[in-house]
Amino acid sequence: MSLKTIFTVLLASLAQASPVPEHDQIGGVLICNDPNGQGHCEYAVYELEKCYDLPEALINNAATFAPDDAPFYCYPRLTECGGLCMSPTGCTFGAVSYDYDNKFNLTRIGWNEYITSFDCYLNQTEDATARI
Ligand SMILES: *[C@@H]1O[C@H](CO)[C@@H](O)[C@H](O)[C@H]1NC(C)=O
Ligand SMILES: *[C@@H]1O[C@H](CO)[C@@H](O)[C@H](O)[C@H]1NC(C)=O
Repeated sequence: MSLKTIFTVLLASLAQASPVPEHDQIGGVLICNDPNGQGHCEYAVYELEKCYDLPEALINNAATFAPDDAPFYCYPRLTECGGLCMSPTGCTFGAVSYDYDNKFNLTRIGWNEYITSFDCYLNQTEDATARI
């Protein structure tokens, strides 16, 4: 093996050795069965302003719902996408962003048994806040 071949092989294996996603993506959410990112987890970067039903393994069984460290927030919901929500609160407990305290343990508010779907939105710009 030439030195160049060894180097190329080494580079290729290095590139493959980092499957851990960057956790600062807009729309990136880690969802797991158990608190603190334990149990079965799924991480993906989701499109904003679009409803997603939770995967089978996580539906009504997600204690971790942790958005990435980026300026966006999500509404975890009781009903599936397109489902009829009869509650004036929109069948959500409110916005969950990186800054939300219970994102790594929704058991604290009982919502580990309830999330069926969610949708995410970009935070308002500074301009919008300044107008208040
Ligand atoms: C984005 O908005 C959410 C919901 O209003 C808020 O909790 C969060 O702190 C905001 N994040 C940033 C980075 O401004
Ligand atoms: C999550 O919250 C529940 C309810 O408050 C608590 O009993 C449990 O110990 C917490 N789990 C972790 C890992 O913090």
